Amino acid sequence: MKIAIIGQGYVGLTIAAVAGEFYSVVGLDRNARVVDQLNKGVSHIEGVENSTLQKWIKEGRYRATAEESEISDAGIVIIAVPTPLNAARQPDMNFIDAACKTIGKNLSQSALVINESTSFPGTLRNFIKPAIEKYSHMNIDHEYAISPERVDPGRGDFNQKNTPRIFAGLTPEASTRTREFYSKFCDQLVEVSSPEVAEAAKLFENTFRQVNIALVNEFAQITNALGISVYETLDAANTKPYGFMKFTPSAGVGGHCIPVDPTYLAAVAEDNGAPATFIRRANEVNLEMSEYIVDRVQSDNNGTLQGKSVLVVGVAYKPNVADVRETAAELVIKHLRDRGAVVSWHDDVVGSWYGEISAPLSGADIAVVVTKHDDVKVQEILDSAPYVFDTTGKVPGAKGL
Ligand SMILES: NC(=O)c1ccc[n+]([C@@H]2O[C@H](COP(=O)([O-])OP(=O)(O)OC[C@H]3O[C@@H](n4cnc5c(N)ncnc54)[C@H](O)[C@@H]3O)[C@@H](O)[C@H]2O)c1
Repeated sequence: MKIAIIGQGYVGLTIAAVAGEFYSVVGLDRNARVVDQLNKGVSHIEGVENSTLQKWIKEGRYRATAEESEISDAGIVIIAVPTPLNAARQPDMNFIDAACKTIGKNLSQSALVINESTSFPGTLRNFIKPAIEKYSHMNIDHEYAISPERVDPGRGDFNQKNTPRIFAGLTPEASTRTREFYSKFCDQLVEVSSPEVAEAAKLFENTFRQVNIALVNEFAQITNALGISVYETLDAANTKPYGFMKFTPSAGVGGHCIPVDPTYLAAVAEDNGAPATFIRRANEVNLEMSEYIVDRVQSDNNGTLQGKSVLVVGVAYKPNVADVRETAAELVIKHLRDRGAVVSWHDDVVGSWYGEISAPLSGADIAVVVTKHDDVKVQEILDSAPYVFDTTGKVPGAKGL
């Protein structure tokens, strides 16, 4: 059977790579450069090997395309497009809507449509199904299911096979077909009673992380005010064998998920008259962390950053990936520049960003470590400036949270 995956980014390409073993996969993406590279067997996503893509391409099991009509005869269509926030920091459903338009206008036979994009409860039932029906001029009924993606790009221990997958269909038939699809490459499937439960579970998973990260970020400010080590205190608390889970402080949260998904939950909560106070406040605490860090750096440097050369070490949102979406480094750099510092950044995994390129790891007045990739040596960081402030807890000998 042919499957079509709309969006060939972190989620869509990861699914394409595992599904290629069992299906003929068409990966649709509106980015022509990505399509071109993928058809040459070059992956842009950590965890998807070029060799896998090349194998599927050679065996005729994978093709990337920007041509929407190529999805017309797919038996399964997976939606894996972005669900960001708009300028007003509200859910931006434009990408999902565009994917629905593509499906509605091009799918010429009855198929199973599975949404893997993260969105608010009710998206499958009240947004995706009606949108596809609205755009379709063909009188075809599709089956609909949700299976929110849990992939953590760059992670070695958990993958598509050993990460349990939540799913629910709009009908029993959709559920059966969805189970059949994922059971080919996932060991544990968790069927829930409605798409809304699956959608809400995904949002709560990421909100749980967002709130706990905010809590530990606030706690780092408390321990600093008390003159004790946040890391030693957390390690001590973590000796409790139950009822505690350790999170560590940082410059903030980044990536497509933790800074964004909780706002989808907050928006749907408030639309339904329920409070979302923790979520809103946690978001603020995480965003404020960058300014707190710059305050600490400034006060350690005679109260001024004017004219000082500051090297931000690591601008990816987490170690060992090139992803800079919503990275906390952006706000750290903004606050440093607002206070007159001359800022450059070092991150050879990212390479170039906003028209700037990674600077050498040396020669600054001040270094601020936002993300530490594994291949960046601690000693090189310590030697890069006479004053080093570490927000990661991975640079012993530096000042830090
Ligand atoms: N990145 C993660 O770690 C992760 C984890 C779990 C869930 N998710 C969720 O999965 C969804 C996708 O995220 P992602 O990280 O894969 O995004 P991404 O930006 O890496 O990839 C999305 C791709 O979709 C393409 N695209 C956008 N609109 C399109 C359209 N109408 N037709 C064809 N292609 C289109 C883009 O060009 C891009 O290549 C989001 O809802 C996200 O929240 C992401």
